[in-house]
Amino acid sequence: MNADDIVICRCEEVTREEIRAWIDRGYRRFDELKRILRIGMGPCQGRGCRDIVLRELSRATGEPMDAICPGTIRPPVKPVKLGLLSRGGETPK
Ligand code: FES
Repeated sequence: MNADDIVICRCEEVTREEIRAWIDRGYRRFDELKRILRIGMGPCQGRGCRDIVLRELSRATGEPMDAICPGTIRPPVKPVKLGLLSRGGETPK
């Protein structure tokens, strides 16, 4: 297996090669990559891929990781079953 074939975002099945290709095209922010590739939009809401993508951005731009914007994180930050929402947040008995 080629290292570029590694799947970085497992939820959306996005490989490192795809991420690097879009970074090379000039997309240098997490939110830009998110809109194009759907990284961070899967069921885990980016918990599985955000740090790896930020590391790729850091590598490409030469900026330290803590200087890279982690993107917009919107609620719900954890998957919530629709049934729970329809009961007004009451937990089942
Ligand atoms: S691994 Fe990327 S959104 Fe879940």
